[in-house]
Amino acid sequence: MDNNFDVIVIGSGPGGYVCAIRAAQLGLKTACVESNKTLGGTCLNTGCIPSKSLLNSSEMYHKLQNEFDNLGIEVDNIKLNLHKMMQNKNKSVLDLTKGIQFLFKKNKITHLKGKGLILDENTVAVVDGSQGKKSYKAKSIVIATGSISTSIPEIKIDEKIIVSSTGALSFDEVPKKLVVIGGGYIGLELSSVWKRLGSDVMVIEFLDHIIPGMDKDVSTEFQKILSKQGINFKLDSKVTSVNILKNKAIVDFTGNKNSKRERIECDKVLVAIGRKANIGEDVLKLGIKINKSKKINVNNKFQTSINNIYAIGDVIDKGPMLAHKAEDEGIAVAEIIASQAGHVNYDVIPAVIYTSPEVAQVGKTEEQIKKENIKYKVGKFPFLANSRAKVNNETEGFVKIIAEEKTDKVLGVSIISTLAGTMIAELAIAMEFGASSEDIARTVHAHPTHAEAVKEAALAVDKRPIHF
Ligand code: NAI
Repeated sequence: MDNNFDVIVIGSGPGGYVCAIRAAQLGLKTACVESNKTLGGTCLNTGCIPSKSLLNSSEMYHKLQNEFDNLGIEVDNIKLNLHKMMQNKNKSVLDLTKGIQFLFKKNKITHLKGKGLILDENTVAVVDGSQGKKSYKAKSIVIATGSISTSIPEIKIDEKIIVSSTGALSFDEVPKKLVVIGGGYIGLELSSVWKRLGSDVMVIEFLDHIIPGMDKDVSTEFQKILSKQGINFKLDSKVTSVNILKNKAIVDFTGNKNSKRERIECDKVLVAIGRKANIGEDVLKLGIKINKSKKINVNNKFQTSINNIYAIGDVIDKGPMLAHKAEDEGIAVAEIIASQAGHVNYDVIPAVIYTSPEVAQVGKTEEQIKKENIKYKVGKFPFLANSRAKVNNETEGFVKIIAEEKTDKVLGVSIISTLAGTMIAELAIAMEFGASSEDIARTVHAHPTHAEAVKEAALAVDKRPIHF
């Protein structure tokens, strides 16, 4: 094999594999290095995708137990087969990893198996357990090594009793009592899974509200909904230690305001307090600059402090740690390397929490807009007044549109709804085109659909909703 490439991408997560495909499409001779057995990175193997499989299956189980009867569908003898549910998840993941393998073949991308180490600005060594070390040359290198979960010094993750999301996606039995540290994306999605499957779940969150970074209105409403589903919350509390005693975990935590100490005994503890950039020693040795939060500094062309070494995705100091942000950066950087004008609009990156209902947001939150002293108008429409949501018994949540007072330009949108993750795409497009709320209000939305709530919220910005 010829060991010279135009581009070597290190990491095959959503950032890396998409970058490799786009680079190959543009006629660049491309290789992608991956140390994991399968392609797809954290998102596909132990993150977004398996969690969505369990969210879907557990929701079906929950609905079958609690909602079908009301619809006149009577089912006896509902039983959970967790092993089968996990097998179904694992099969979906495996099929999708094979899908990337197929796309690599189709696009003539060389898959280098092993750990990629950057030796100098044009050389990548691939270290593989069996074959040893081989060196490859590249005109450009893209670091797409993603992120890894963080913990706190007092807590040692063993992936058995004290787990990260990886462990919590593969429990072999439903924990009777599960404590989740962190009320963010991972904490709340996995709390939902295990609550639906029968666990008693307690979320301990350091701040006085869940999902920091999302609109406060949304966070308050969402917490109410999750509490109604039976998830317990201890907010404004700091976990000080987790110890294992006879196969049980003892979680100690203290109230931030009242300093009250509390202790809970449980079967499993999920630590979901954020992720950190996965930067190898090789990158540090080369002197590639990183910022205070230990993420790689890149300029607007995704170049690191070494010109022909680029970085994208969770590992860089730009944008949220989201798979779709990494994908778009992958496309942009490939186009830049091919002398085109790749670009990512960081102002319009949707974020979704895939619980039931889902939570989605794009653009700025009301708190951000206030902070920036921008004058604004808000239009809100509840799903209680949306006919399709009503007949589906999905009346929780709302659409909230914030527009600039003078120009009416849409600045941010939040949605809580069973279909929020899909619905937010309309708003992302609207914002990309610089839409006003009037533009959305005057767009015909099919009836009866959940999407009508978007139109109504846009009408509500001008205080003229029809159905509320
Ligand atoms: P996160 O940043 O979303 O939430 C972490 C939470 O832990 C925060 O609310 C924080 O205040 C809290 N926290 C931090 N230290 C704590 C402590 N000592 N005690 C109690 N609470 C503490 O991080 P998470 O959920 O781990 O997710 C990691 C990344 O993965 C996120 O950046 C997210 O964007 C991404 N992700 C995205 C998903 C999606 O798009 N649906 C799903 C899962 C993860």
